[in-house]
Amino acid sequence: MKDERKLAIGIFDSGMGGISVLAETIKFMPEERYIYYGDSGNAPYGVKAPEEVNNLSKNICEFLIDRGVKAIVVACNTATSAAIKDLRNTYDIPIIGMEPALKPAVEKKPEGKIVVMATSMTLKEKKFSRLMDKYGQEADIVKLPCPKLVELVEEGILEGERMEETIRECFKDIDKDEISSVVLGCTHYIFLKDSIRNVLGDKIDIIDGNQGTARHLKNILEKKGLLNKEKGEGVDLELYNSKRNPEIIDLSRKLLEFCLNKLNF
Ligand code: DGL
Repeated sequence: MKDERKLAIGIFDSGMGGISVLAETIKFMPEERYIYYGDSGNAPYGVKAPEEVNNLSKNICEFLIDRGVKAIVVACNTATSAAIKDLRNTYDIPIIGMEPALKPAVEKKPEGKIVVMATSMTLKEKKFSRLMDKYGQEADIVKLPCPKLVELVEEGILEGERMEETIRECFKDIDKDEISSVVLGCTHYIFLKDSIRNVLGDKIDIIDGNQGTARHLKNILEKKGLLNKEKGEGVDLELYNSKRNPEIIDLSRKLLEFCLNKLNF
């Protein structure tokens, strides 16, 4: 009989963003096998219709399930908003989603504004409205869609003048002295912490949900007896991308290294 603990964990995103989640997950569970699928050929998801993102997400899950994964991480807040319910109803393996980490930001009882950077779809969908219903009374929360940042990350641009100018443009209507924290509600933005700090200053807390997602995945695998306890040589990772060119796989590897090299990134 097949030992299910040895099967890979499937992780996907609209493109490069989920690589930051993959890095956190590898740091947390280095003994696991991973299959990553980036849908860069269809990125960005954040400006599409939810039904289209739902269909794209289902196709990717089929691809991952065909390769025999034991769990899937939807490493994309946008795809989670559009598809998580349907994916969980369709597949009988654990499906872990992501949402903007508003809870920890609000729990810090900030004096100033909490800015949630995310895609337009994430900020418009029911999942985020429910978060707002829960926490909206407790803090001054500002929703900030930043679609241009996703495009730059897909080009491999994470820092420098062009990136900082684009971040400045996103924040142009918000007084930065009034901001206490920024929630990174899109996995593409995780690579941009340094650039965001350069624009907004060091005093602002930058919060993301990646560690929480990795911990949640581990708990679920543990509960289901699916954790792989045997560590092999190095990182066991297969990388796929709908763009199907070697440059995009190179970029995926570079971004993974970028994350793994930065402790507490
Ligand atoms: N990385 C995705 C997220 O976390 C979305 C980026 C896109 O618009 O494709 O929401």
